[in-house]
Formats: sequence, structure tokens, C-alpha cells
Amino acid sequence: MNTVTNIRITTAVKTNASLYKQVEDAFSVLSKLASIQNVQIIKRRKLTINQLFQRDTTPLIVFESSGPKLYFTPDTPIYFHLDTVKVKLHMMKQRKMPVLIEMLDEITTDFTKFNFIDGTMGFGRDTYLILKHYQQAHVYAIEQNPLIHYVISEGMKRYLTEDELRRIHYINDDYHNWVEQYPELVDILYLDHMFEETLDEDDRMGELSRNIEIPSEIKSVSHFEYLIVKAHYKSEIFKKFNTIQCIRKSTKTHYGLRINQNYKFE
Ligand SMILES: C[S@@+](CC[C@H](N)C(=O)[O-])C[C@H]1O[C@@H](n2cnc3c(N)ncnc32)[C@H](O)[C@@H]1O
Repeated sequence: MNTVTNIRITTAVKTNASLYKQVEDAFSVLSKLASIQNVQIIKRRKLTINQLFQRDTTPLIVFESSGPKLYFTPDTPIYFHLDTVKVKLHMMKQRKMPVLIEMLDEITTDFTKFNFIDGTMGFGRDTYLILKHYQQAHVYAIEQNPLIHYVISEGMKRYLTEDELRRIHYINDDYHNWVEQYPELVDILYLDHMFEETLDEDDRMGELSRNIEIPSEIKSVSHFEYLIVKAHYKSEIFKKFNTIQCIRKSTKTHYGLRINQNYKFE
């Protein structure tokens, strides 16, 4: 379960009625969460983010016209952004497929529809890619940190069509709990835990890793028809989850696959 946290919310300096409304909506949603103890709306005035952190270091969500941004520290906001996904989608138009898509193409050849469970949504880039690429997929995007869950899901929704909004399900939970509760929904479970050794301390992934709960041990899972894990090539997770590690010589990021032959009939 998540550690209980506090949160402050405010608007961009250049504000408008829509941003105020988003702050009010966020207040009402976040106040209801058991994992959030206190939600405080603060007046932005002309204060910089640095100034807002001078006396109070409580995490802060800032509503901007481009979407909500979460600050754990004043330097590196966490928000939904399309940068790397755009590059991947562009490459895919030229038939250069990311490994995850190649694996899913193999697995789903005979599927008319399927559920893709992204157990570790994080910045939501993989969720977004799958949602855009597979029109026959329902994507369940699970994120245990309530603040990351909120800003990434609200940020991503702005980029989705009506059809995609029907096919995405954002869930604030630990994926272990969720898959145990809904085993019948788990066609493909995808896990991309933080991989410590490749983290660049200064980037947004570094910022995310410093502010989430990293368990000392990752529990194994059994509720899935197909399991795909992404991790650093030296990670213990491939063995732990009993996956076949797909070796890629040119990169440190590897993928592992495990198939539960009779899962849906068990
Ligand atoms: C490396 S990031 C995932 C990046 C993501 N694949 C993307 O495309 O942006 C890992 C995320 O998984 C979340 N996480 C870790 N363990 C989890 C768990 N047991 N249940 C749900 N979320 C979890 C972390 O809070 C973090 O946000």
C-alpha cells in the first residue's frame, strides 16, 4: 500500500477559469483518496516554483494549459509528455518496430481483441503506444503512486480520441492486488520496474525513481496468460519471474517473456 502523502495544488501564473476549475476538480478527486492525508489549494500569485518550495516542501501539482505537472522538487516536473513516444510512432510508420510491439504482434496474431495490463504505468509512454497501435486492445494502466497516477492519467487523456478513452482504464493500485482481484481480465501483463543501473540521476526518470516506493524485493506473479517484463539486462527479475530473456546485444534494456499455457482454463 502507498505511503500516505500530502499535496498542494495551484495554477500557472497566467491563469484562467478553466485552470481554476481543474484545481477544484483535482481537490475533490484527491481529497477522497485514503493515500492522501491533506490537499491544499494555494494561491499562485506571481510566485515562482522555487519560491513555492522555499518554506514548504510538500509535493505540488501545477495546472497549466498544457496539462498538470507534478513537482516533488522545484527542478524536474513529472507530467505526461509525448517526446519519446512520438519518435517511436514515427519510426513505426517506417516499419521499424519497437521490441515491445514486435513481441505483441507475435502474441496477438490470432486475437480479435485483448486486454493489455500495464502494471507499472509511470510516465504512461508504453500505455499510450499500445493504445494508439492496437485498436483491438483494452489497456489497464496501473500505477501505485496516487500523485503520479493522477497527473499522468489526466495529462494523457488530452491526447486521446473518444474511442481510446473508452479503451483505457486508469487504476491507482499495486498491480499485485489488482491482478489477484481481476485474474480473468489479465491476457497480457507488462511490467517495467525501475531499473536502477541505467538511471540518469538528472533526468525525469531519475526524479520519478527518487520519489516512488521501491520495494526491497519484487513479489512474483502468477495471474497472466502472457507476461512481458522489461529490465536492465543484469536484472534478477528475468529469473525471478521465470521468463525467457530476449537478448539484445546493442542495448542494456532487455525483455523477458513467459507464457502460462492453460491460464484461462485453470
Ligand atoms: C520505470 S516506471 C514505468 C515507465 C513506463 N513503462 C513508461 O512507459 O513511462 C515504473 C513505475 O511503476 C510504478 N510501480 C512500481 N511498482 C508498482 C506496483 N507494484 N504496482 C503499481 N505500480 C508500480 C512506479 O511507481 C513507477 O511509476
